[in-house]
Amino acid sequence: MKIVFVNPVGAIGGAERVLLTILAALLTAQPNIQLHLIVGTDGPLIEQAEKLGVQVKVLKLPEELNQLGDSAFKGNNKAIAGLILLLRIVKILPSIGKYLQEFKRSLRELKPDLIHSNGIKTHLLVALAGIKGIPVVWHIHDFYGSRPLMALALKWMSDRATIGIAISQAVAQDARTTLPRLPVEVIYNAVDINYFSPALSTLPSSPFRVGLVATFARWKGHDIFLEAAARIVRSHPDLNIRFCIVGGAIYQTRGSQFSEQELRNKASHLGIAEKVDFLGFQQDIVAIYRSLDIVVHASTQPEPFGLAIVEAMACGRPVIVSQAGGAAELFTHNYDAVGVPPGEPIALATAILDLLNNFEKRQIISEKARYTVTERFSHERLGQQIFAVYKGT
Ligand code: GLC
Repeated sequence: MKIVFVNPVGAIGGAERVLLTILAALLTAQPNIQLHLIVGTDGPLIEQAEKLGVQVKVLKLPEELNQLGDSAFKGNNKAIAGLILLLRIVKILPSIGKYLQEFKRSLRELKPDLIHSNGIKTHLLVALAGIKGIPVVWHIHDFYGSRPLMALALKWMSDRATIGIAISQAVAQDARTTLPRLPVEVIYNAVDINYFSPALSTLPSSPFRVGLVATFARWKGHDIFLEAAARIVRSHPDLNIRFCIVGGAIYQTRGSQFSEQELRNKASHLGIAEKVDFLGFQQDIVAIYRSLDIVVHASTQPEPFGLAIVEAMACGRPVIVSQAGGAAELFTHNYDAVGVPPGEPIALATAILDLLNNFEKRQIISEKARYTVTERFSHERLGQQIFAVYKGT
């Protein structure tokens, strides 16, 4: 069986980490399977996929298309935002047309048995390419309902897809409402539990380290994290504590991300600049998780899944989770992680201090967290589950 995966970018965010886990899991579960990947931009995903034995082709998306997205318009006047987006699309129609020809030619040459698309832009591209007689899987990593213009386009073209795989129940529910004609199945994301594993020693570190691991999308809550940090520093000025921001701006969509400078300025305004470390995008993320005493997830909007939560839990770290959307399905409050309401720095600061003051609670939660991940989110189930979807198409 030959599968062609298509991914909008070559950069590595959560959806790409899941993609790499799926590729590896499929190759283990079905050693004869042939895997190809077409990506829309350069980036580290290419080399990582090639290392697994996947044949990768870069078909560079037109620059203007990379910068397009309706998430930048969130909260603005919808009609005006829609009009601007429409005008931008019209302007780049010729380059999209040219790209589609190339995309179609590549697919025709590869002759796949199935196409597995991993992002909104590639869902639309595959649909527009109009390849007949080949099943198409849409992997759904986001709440499409919160992106009205994209949702409309996807709904319009959902007939061209055979099935959707949603990464959580919350995402599936949204997809079933937004794309009523598409059958949707839930397959929870998974992580390689051998790679994401606890450190041998779990002694408290000095200084105490609290970290947020996320891309710089604005809804990931870096601002809430910094506000919570400022509260803690203000109420406990002698505490030997550091706040680590791990990650960077990886997407090209305009206006939807923080810049590091903006976050540094915010930390300065709050008077905690010297307590915050900006670690950037990290290759060896396991070492980072292991070095943190508490991992914070602070998304201000419902998180579709929240891969960093499960990665950190797999590394046996106590995680504080912004409890909404798919993220709320990943843990049990005060058992294997701690839930807090999204967007509330006071609640976050309180939860951090509670864990910080309670070594035993951290230990117990850490152990349960690792156990939960091995039971529910291990990569070992993923290959079979995905392959079962392929067989059903
Ligand atoms: C998207 C979602 C995130 C999820 C990731 C992997 O980035 O926003 O919640 O963890 O995809 O599925």
